[in-house]
Amino acid sequence: MSNNEPTRKETASRRDFLKTTGALAAGLALAGQAPAIGPVEKLALEGGPKAVTVPDAEALHWPRYGETEEQAVLELVRHPTYDAIAGLEDDWKKHFGVPYAKAHVNGTSALASMFFALDLPPGSEIMVPSYTFFATIVPMRLFGLVPVFVDINPQTLNFDLEDAKKRLTKNTKAVLPVHWIGLPADMDLINDWAKEKDLIVLEDSAHAHGAKIKDKYTGSWSRMAIYSFQMSKPLPAIEGGIGVYQNQEDHDRAEAFGNYDMPSVSADSPYMKYKGSGLGLKLRMHPFAAALARCQLKGLEERNEAGARQVRRLNDALLQLPGLSEQTSGRKDVQRLYYSWNMLFIDEAKAGMSREAAVKALVAEGVRATAPSYTLQHKLPLYAEEQWWHHKPVIPDLPGSEKANATSLGLPYFTTDVPELVEQYIKAFEKVWAHRKDLATA
Ligand SMILES: Cc1ncc(COP(=O)(O)O)c(C=O)c1O
Repeated sequence: MSNNEPTRKETASRRDFLKTTGALAAGLALAGQAPAIGPVEKLALEGGPKAVTVPDAEALHWPRYGETEEQAVLELVRHPTYDAIAGLEDDWKKHFGVPYAKAHVNGTSALASMFFALDLPPGSEIMVPSYTFFATIVPMRLFGLVPVFVDINPQTLNFDLEDAKKRLTKNTKAVLPVHWIGLPADMDLINDWAKEKDLIVLEDSAHAHGAKIKDKYTGSWSRMAIYSFQMSKPLPAIEGGIGVYQNQEDHDRAEAFGNYDMPSVSADSPYMKYKGSGLGLKLRMHPFAAALARCQLKGLEERNEAGARQVRRLNDALLQLPGLSEQTSGRKDVQRLYYSWNMLFIDEAKAGMSREAAVKALVAEGVRATAPSYTLQHKLPLYAEEQWWHHKPVIPDLPGSEKANATSLGLPYFTTDVPELVEQYIKAFEKVWAHRKDLATA
């Protein structure tokens, strides 16, 4: 726990203050000063002083490469070799305790290779959230696979198992949850259900390098999983990805799909006969990216933990405000991480103002707040056109996904320790909330 974190007693008194006197007074009380009596500070929206004055460019800087990364790439420029790829695969297996790993051009190609490796009959269906990046779904079509769109829980932004249970079809063969912005999906419960229904479990861990459930890494709860190293991700290599596999046949098939030279397929593998021809694609990761990923793997967990601690400090204060909640599963046995966003939700009735009014006022205070709405895949034309699919995917109503998009209040994830900026964000929120009656009628 950081020294800057308020104690439980302080947090409780902060909450009481907010209920009674108003935000500025609460802020001062927390700082150990006498509560201010009198009017709260004028909103920046109304010409008052901005709450956030600390420059934030450094706190938003990502990826954070240093001399180690520069040296690793320079070394490759001077002595070109592919060795970093096998090196990354070995590092990954050791770090995450998985038996097989294959580096790919990016997360999308790792997903395509995974769908190929599945070797399911055309027409097989895979349950997947619509609230995800295209890559979790669209490559399925290359192999005659069809998505069954599953809702997300609007509080976790993750695969809603209860919704999935209602959508099971006779063609469903697999489930593919995503660990959205580093919050692990309920893999234990998903696995139990999948076992009961004889479904293959896969994971899209593109956002969750190092997250854990019950002390076990995301990506190791399933038969096959992927990670992305695209440059916004928790482990950035500018572009890149990796697939992890629990059995050799899946690994060999995934490798054969995009590696004509099959560097890590063993001599006795039934796929070895395709060495030299491959199966038509070349998805070899760039060694620069592999070198960057190897550097970034060192210290990954410490970075994740420091980032999560800082988000806790910020969110613990913000969650005292009426109508604000955060992306959480409420589970004590998960170890999450963050990247890019710190996603909050606003309940407009409880907050007493609209999301739009809150965001506008926060932005005026200098907070990089947004009202994000993530593209829902099931609403895109591709899925409504039969010609692209073995059979047309069912286009459902997904109220959880809609609710997430209607209530999200996005904040940036600060990539370095910035206690002063965090305090100013808290002050800005408290100020805006203290004015919420005016904002409701503005
Ligand atoms: C959930 C998810 N899956 C897969 C991918 C694909 O990764 P890449 O961009 O490396 O192809 C992304 C990338 O943003 C993603 O967000």
